[in-house]
Amino acid sequence: MLKDIEKVYYSEETLKNIVKDLGKKISEDYKDKNLLLVSVLKGSIMFMADLMREITVPCEIDFMCVSSYNDGTKSSGVVKIIKDLDINLDGKDVLIVEDILDSGRTLGYLKSILMTRNPKSFRICTLLDKPSRRAVPDLWADYSGAEVPDEFVVGYGLDYDEKYRNLPYIGILKREVYSDKCE
Ligand code: IMP
Ligand code: MG
Repeated sequence: MLKDIEKVYYSEETLKNIVKDLGKKISEDYKDKNLLLVSVLKGSIMFMADLMREITVPCEIDFMCVSSYNDGTKSSGVVKIIKDLDINLDGKDVLIVEDILDSGRTLGYLKSILMTRNPKSFRICTLLDKPSRRAVPDLWADYSGAEVPDEFVVGYGLDYDEKYRNLPYIGILKREVYSDKCE
């Protein structure tokens, strides 16, 4: 796996600090609220597991699995719900926990569905943001861990073709690994 990584972009240590800071901010903002963390599978699994340990206020968790039809490195905006939430959103302060905000199409679609379920509030927390790639202009993260350039990154939950999720850091994937499959 290591031979496919161009460079380590965020080390394990750096990620730990980023997640710690996010957890602190969220804990301050959600005092006396009905916090429900919604992890978007599968990419946010490591981030969710670490972030919830840094949150010091009571919270509930739930999982949603969506698949965006894509060519491996770019999402199309057509999203299918593979697993829906179990918890009713009525009166909940929903915080979406996402791995990366790229074009924004996946979260834009998710937001439009979840807003019809009457949550008390709705916010987005993303570990990584690629602002230069945004195609949905009014979609932003309320909490964002770090920015990444317009490169394909893997590790810490993020995949290419379902692989590399188990790397403990975020690395830039060598273009030769996927260039024959897209563009
Ligand atoms: P969006 O709909 O374009 O914002 O894409 C969001 C989803 O695409 C993310 O939740 C990821 O699953 C995937 N994605 C986007 N960029 C990357 C990347 O650089 N590495 C791995 N997955 C990515
Ligand atoms: Mg994802």
